[in-house]
Amino acid sequence: MVHAETKSSKYYIDLEDKYGAHNYHPLPVVLARGEGIFLWDVDGKQYYDFLSAYSAVNQGHCHPKIISAMIEQAGKLTLTSRAFHNNVIGEYEKYITAYFGYDKVLPMNTGVEGGETAVKLARRWGYTVKGIPDNQAHILFVEGNFWGRTMAAISSSTDPSSYREFGPYMPGFAVIPYNDLAALEVAFKTNPHIAGFMFEPIQGEAGVIIPDEGYLKGVRELCTKYRVLMIADEVQTGLCRTGKTLACDYENVKPDLLILGKALSGGVIPVSAVLGNNEVMLGIKPGEHGSTYGGNPLACAVAIAALKVLKEEHLAENAVVTGKIFRARMVELMKKTSMITSVRGKGLMNAIVIKPYGENKTAYHVCLHLKDNGLLAKQTHGDIIRFAPPLLITEEQMHQACDIIEQVILALR
Ligand SMILES: Cc1ncc(COP(=O)(O)O)c(C=O)c1O
Repeated sequence: MVHAETKSSKYYIDLEDKYGAHNYHPLPVVLARGEGIFLWDVDGKQYYDFLSAYSAVNQGHCHPKIISAMIEQAGKLTLTSRAFHNNVIGEYEKYITAYFGYDKVLPMNTGVEGGETAVKLARRWGYTVKGIPDNQAHILFVEGNFWGRTMAAISSSTDPSSYREFGPYMPGFAVIPYNDLAALEVAFKTNPHIAGFMFEPIQGEAGVIIPDEGYLKGVRELCTKYRVLMIADEVQTGLCRTGKTLACDYENVKPDLLILGKALSGGVIPVSAVLGNNEVMLGIKPGEHGSTYGGNPLACAVAIAALKVLKEEHLAENAVVTGKIFRARMVELMKKTSMITSVRGKGLMNAIVIKPYGENKTAYHVCLHLKDNGLLAKQTHGDIIRFAPPLLITEEQMHQACDIIEQVILALR
């Protein structure tokens, strides 16, 4: 029998094409190993990872402390369901609530389940605390939002490739422009039945869209004034990605509900969480919400280790320093080429906007060239490339990666 390692990239890509549903369009690279900020393909070629699995691998691939926490727990107990107690979940709940300063956490698995949970908590709070008449609660979202692929998530989406031909959609959702406090206040004033306003402090999938300074504070103030729950989706922006533990920390605001996912496991297994205070969190009673895997001992042990690594290794601080290097280098590069029309970001959540070049060549083609030159990144919306390496990248490695980007882009002029 041929060992898996000896098979070609083409073999694996063909397998996926034949037996997997075609719901993704990956770059043609087949990865077999990861360590820190690097990935290796089946031929042993090394790449800088500048996607970090959409910011799930903030702590770097296969972080030894997270992997050993997982292995240790996996040898003892992995899943009990919540039909019984286990001796890890309580410790995790205590740890994560102290870490973020909330009364309670509700553990789930994927980011989108975190969003679904927040919507349910907000609706329940709307009926039982705010006094919204039965079945009339609204949740407000913003244009360009992305929080996953379930029916509820796509029902709030303004991107046709997310929602088209999947209707009918979830009622009770409304959408206003992002970064528009006036629109938010109008919505709150005209609809007293809004239970929650759910948004990303920086929009990830939309292309790293950063709101004006003061937006987060303004949202907090309006939510308090009109008694609407402020729900921050920090699944992508959270856990040091933007240079602070949470992106909301930039304006010192505390959301009523905080949704975390992705890097909560350092990219090891799906772990998500919703955090909030008792008034909201105690609205859901036993038997009214849950998940077989949510809060499983393996996930809890992994999440404690993943959160510890962020602090112990000062990853927020490093994201600030290396993110500044990245943007400075890209701004310099922008002076040498008309292909880059914009550079933006915070910490290590960055993006450049690419002008189409050659014969209908787009950001996707730039990503193909980056891959050939040893750096993996992914385009979004045709003209944007997001650059989000693991947060432990050194200054020297960042310069080396920027050298690759510069050489590739200048060669494409
Ligand atoms: C801001 C945000 N929320 C939620 C999600 C959904 O997370 P998951 O894919 O784990 O369901 C994503 C995924 O990219 C995201 O970026």
